Amino acid sequence: MGVDSGLPDFRGNEGFWEAYPPYAKLGVSFIGMANPDNFETDPAFAWGFYGHRTNLYRDTVPHKGFHILKNWIESKNADYFVVTSNVDGQFQKAGFDEERILEVHGSIHWLQCLKPCSNEIWGNFEAYHVDSNSMRVDRIPVCPNCDEISRPNILMFGDCSWISDRKDYQQLRYRQFRQANIGKRIVVIELGAGKAIPTIRYISEQLGMEDKVSVIRINPRESEIKQPHISIGSASLEALMYIDSLL
Ligand SMILES: NC(=O)c1ccc[n+]([C@@H]2O[C@H](COP(=O)([O-])OP(=O)(O)OC[C@H]3O[C@@H](n4cnc5c(N)ncnc54)[C@H](O)[C@@H]3O)[C@@H](O)[C@H]2O)c1
Ligand SMILES: [Zn+2]
Repeated sequence: MGVDSGLPDFRGNEGFWEAYPPYAKLGVSFIGMANPDNFETDPAFAWGFYGHRTNLYRDTVPHKGFHILKNWIESKNADYFVVTSNVDGQFQKAGFDEERILEVHGSIHWLQCLKPCSNEIWGNFEAYHVDSNSMRVDRIPVCPNCDEISRPNILMFGDCSWISDRKDYQQLRYRQFRQANIGKRIVVIELGAGKAIPTIRYISEQLGMEDKVSVIRINPRESEIKQPHISIGSASLEALMYIDSLL
């Protein structure tokens, strides 16, 4: 969904290296960067990646497609829930209700202790200066409780210390939403859900097995889905604008 706001997706190492040429030079993969071990061994380097992304996501303005979705919800007075594997906070920024968002991999806008010394998470209000060659930060954010290194409250690869409490609360609200809508007609609008980490694709496919649930899969490269569900092979914004023009 963020691609049409100018954010990179990663699409495996090639895509990741295209978005982050310094990591290509260093020969570091996405899995190598999105890893809690880096925070132990080289926190300035680990924070370079997440500090850069924090700045990028803070500066990004959500594209018109977010507002088209919101307008459909508001004009039809529809119940809704956003389920995303993005960690960029763009749905909140576009004005979607914080109580109706499930961020399955957490959010970059929240931090936790690396150890962790407690289950506390706190808002990410740090400033990051990232050297564009070395991809290192000059100052490492610390935990307010123990003064040790902090990290984003994001599920990384091989991650045993992610504090999932915030996601668990979101999941509880999502379950309540599902419960409240049992037997009703539901449309799942799946936007740019990739195959690399197919969490979101699985969620829509599972929902699609239920009665009265229709899935619209929008993706310029991998939009295939079994009938009777609908496949639209184009970018999110283009597809949303097109559907909007028909309504
Ligand atoms: N902004 C973010 O928060 C952010 C950015 C990159 C990756 N991630 C997360 O990292 C994980 C892996 O990501 P990845 O990018 O390697 O996965 P991926 O390559 O599996 O998924 C990216 C998907 O986006 C599709 N896509 C590209 N441009 C699009 C557009 N304009 N409109 C609609 N779809 C478009 C691609 O075809 C692909 O299916 C995922 O969980 C992802 O959410 C998050
Ligand atoms: Zn701590």
